[in-house]
Amino acid sequence: MAERMTVSYQRKPAYDIVFTTSFDELPAELETLGAANRKICIVTDSKVDSIYGEELLGLVQKCCKKAVKYAFPNGEENKNLDTVKEIYKFLIEEGFDRKDMLLALGGGVVGDTTGYVAATYLRGIDFVQVPTTLLAQADSSIGGKTGVDFDGYKNMVGAFKMPKLVYMNHSTLTTLDERQYYSGFAEIMKHGLIKDAMLYEWLIENMYEICDRDANTLQEMLMRSCNVKKLVVEKDPTEQGDRALLNYGHTIGHAIEKAKNFELFHGECVALGAVAAAYISWKRELLSMDEYYEIRDMFVPFNLPITVEDISPEEILKLTKSDKKMENGSVKFVLLKKIGKAVIDKTVTDDEILAAINEIYFSEEDAHA
Ligand code: GLY
Repeated sequence: MAERMTVSYQRKPAYDIVFTTSFDELPAELETLGAANRKICIVTDSKVDSIYGEELLGLVQKCCKKAVKYAFPNGEENKNLDTVKEIYKFLIEEGFDRKDMLLALGGGVVGDTTGYVAATYLRGIDFVQVPTTLLAQADSSIGGKTGVDFDGYKNMVGAFKMPKLVYMNHSTLTTLDERQYYSGFAEIMKHGLIKDAMLYEWLIENMYEICDRDANTLQEMLMRSCNVKKLVVEKDPTEQGDRALLNYGHTIGHAIEKAKNFELFHGECVALGAVAAAYISWKRELLSMDEYYEIRDMFVPFNLPITVEDISPEEILKLTKSDKKMENGSVKFVLLKKIGKAVIDKTVTDDEILAAINEIYFSEEDAHA
């Protein structure tokens, strides 16, 4: 059964998240946004286009003035300003004006890129998120962060732009390949660790159903996880304070992602970064040793890595310090005070970071030990 949740922005209801198991209700949802008098451009990538592109175009055509579709090649390497430029060109050719609308159909790359186009085309037009991956449903489609990578740096160029609707058909998750599914799961685990110990416990208790992608379990998992994200972004939409807690695992995670040339998935790197941050939390006696090992080992049944090979810890440290999560020269690190409570800390030293990277680094010597 479809359920919904309203997210506020600047203390006013701004957009709904619809949790459901098909695309059937999408036309009615778009009608409530005045689609009948607007053109809609579905922006997607080649992979999602081949699965859902025609179905969505057919549905959207039913309820708006004119529907068109633009698909760019799949992959993080296309989350850049060249793709943005191509979308601008397409919108100009199709005569899109300020009252028209974009619909992002796909994962995080599609949502972030389309959102950035929506934030900047004609100084801003409306957009709707239709996330199809777990990463996008649990995290990136909510909260209005949009943007693209620049020169190998993640999300270096961007803007805050709230969507008008987030339509989550979680039946799309049942066909997602394993690695992508579990990569998205890392962000859900993160939500439990930073803000909601009950969510963390629920994830452990429902491990088998989550791995089976049972529909009722997926709906409950998404609603619980999105509720954490909603509360955080409502309180601090533009990351002046608490929203930075959502970067738990991302400081070292982003560095590994870049060092490994985006070979590892984002969520896999977040899991590694989360283990490293939990390790620092343990060494600072914020977490007990048992809690640290429990957190670390909880990623394993969800097929997420807790060690990484073929990296240079010194290079990861350097990249960690060049990440945009720096403030006045110090790294803005997120640590855990306990399960379900994260804190921002700007005093983490290079030695502590290096020790944490060494903790997750599986070296040749380990292999022969
Ligand atoms: N994914 C982190 C945030 O939305 O702030």
